[in-house]
Amino acid sequence: MTTLFERLGGEENIVKISNNIVEFHSVNPAFKSRFVDSDIAKLKKSVADFFITGSGGPNVYQGEDMLTAHKGMNISDNEYMAAVDDVMKALENNGITGDAEKSEVLYIFYSLRPDVVAV
Ligand code: HEM
Repeated sequence: MTTLFERLGGEENIVKISNNIVEFHSVNPAFKSRFVDSDIAKLKKSVADFFITGSGGPNVYQGEDMLTAHKGMNISDNEYMAAVDDVMKALENNGITGDAEKSEVLYIFYSLRPDVVAV
């Protein structure tokens, strides 16, 4: 049984996927205004490290837990769904088209929903 990390193409492809996620977020009409003051390069690195660690790769993530990172933002369901779309698009864009891999990423994303939406 290979880890999700391996099936997503390891660190190299996860970095590409994560860069895409942040790029799509920064132009997504549902919430792009939230990222206008962000350090995009730093955020890309954080998202990639989070994804690498969370998919069963090396334990490299040193950022905040999801509740602390999103507390006070009052993120809506609509914004959350729009973010899911960006993640799915980023996977496909980088060759991840298998249902198993997409479902597993979706499951991880969904399991974090209570720490992110309306907190
Ligand atoms: C389960 C879904 C989500 C995950 C896994 C996630 C992941 C992350 C991560 C890893 C960080 C960086 C934290 C750090 O470096 O300490 C972050 C920051 C952030 N997230 Fe999320 N996020 C999610 C959903 C959302 C949604 C739906 C929005 C808004 C529409 C959002 C807006 C932000 C903002 C504004 C930041 C701070 C950016 C900055 O530092 O400039 N996130 N998120």
